[in-house]
Amino acid sequence: MLIKVLGSAAGGGFPQVNCNCRNCADVRLGKPGLRARTQSSLAVSGDGKAWALLNASPDLRQQIGSTPELSPYALTGARSSPIKVVVLTSGDVDHIAGLLSLREGLAFTLYASERVLGALTANSVFDVLDRRLVPRVPLPIGKPVELALFGISLGLTMEAFPVPGKVALYLEDPAAGSTLGTREGDTIGLRIGDPATGAGFFYIPGCASVDTVLAGRLRGADLVLFDGTLYSDDEMIAQGLSTKTGKRMGHISISGRDGSIAALRALGIERRIFVHVNNSNPVLRQDSPERAEVERAGWEVAFDGMEIRL
Ligand code: MLT
Ligand code: MN
Ligand code: ZN
Repeated sequence: MLIKVLGSAAGGGFPQVNCNCRNCADVRLGKPGLRARTQSSLAVSGDGKAWALLNASPDLRQQIGSTPELSPYALTGARSSPIKVVVLTSGDVDHIAGLLSLREGLAFTLYASERVLGALTANSVFDVLDRRLVPRVPLPIGKPVELALFGISLGLTMEAFPVPGKVALYLEDPAAGSTLGTREGDTIGLRIGDPATGAGFFYIPGCASVDTVLAGRLRGADLVLFDGTLYSDDEMIAQGLSTKTGKRMGHISISGRDGSIAALRALGIERRIFVHVNNSNPVLRQDSPERAEVERAGWEVAFDGMEIRL
């Protein structure tokens, strides 16, 4: 199984168009120790030929352009694409807007929770994806499925499970109180497996907290790619970028007693990688104390183009 990180940044990317935080300003200037990052997405393949995208970011066209494996191969006909499947883990704009770059008659299976498929149905712009070419398949929660397009298997299995999170920003319901109307299926995690080798990995780019159910699921995993949005819960407030905490945005922080380093420390996970990293996060600076801290704790910080073989 081959995994490619197409985009390692959170919503807005790095640098973000309207952001002049220290990280964004410095990466724009080309200062050493920082690299630009596009928005949240992975590609995975069992055979290196047929690919599944895990989330479709607004930067998808650029990501495909810098990933030769995702362009049509020679002698495959006038119209073709190695992209056979797209899976969505939330309805957030950074995870769905790239679907609009996959129109033009491309055929792929679109898997998402009932909740997220409902959001797509309610936004008629997504009807540019012809349902005869792009079947929309509701993800069974907790039951593995084989990734396939029109009955042809990609040789990979996928299990989707709900994780603590928050409904997409544009669907928040202030009248619903502190839950903002969040329901099961708004944020899911995935386990992708290769039945030929037994290898598998978890992909959880958005997660509000690690409860005992999630910790149990991740115990002993080979590889976990996990929500690395913020280092500290109040970092966007402290930098004058926003009035929201990480908790309010549905994202666990990396540091702190209830942060992800602590929560995933003793679970015997072989390899742990932060994805969906917000531009305010000090771990984006190679020479920061926070980056040293996550590395000391055994974590890696994903970068665009990162390749992992399992
Ligand atoms: C998030 O991960 O919190 C969202 O992508 C925020 C956004 O919509 O930009
Ligand atoms: Mn996001
Ligand atoms: Zn910034």
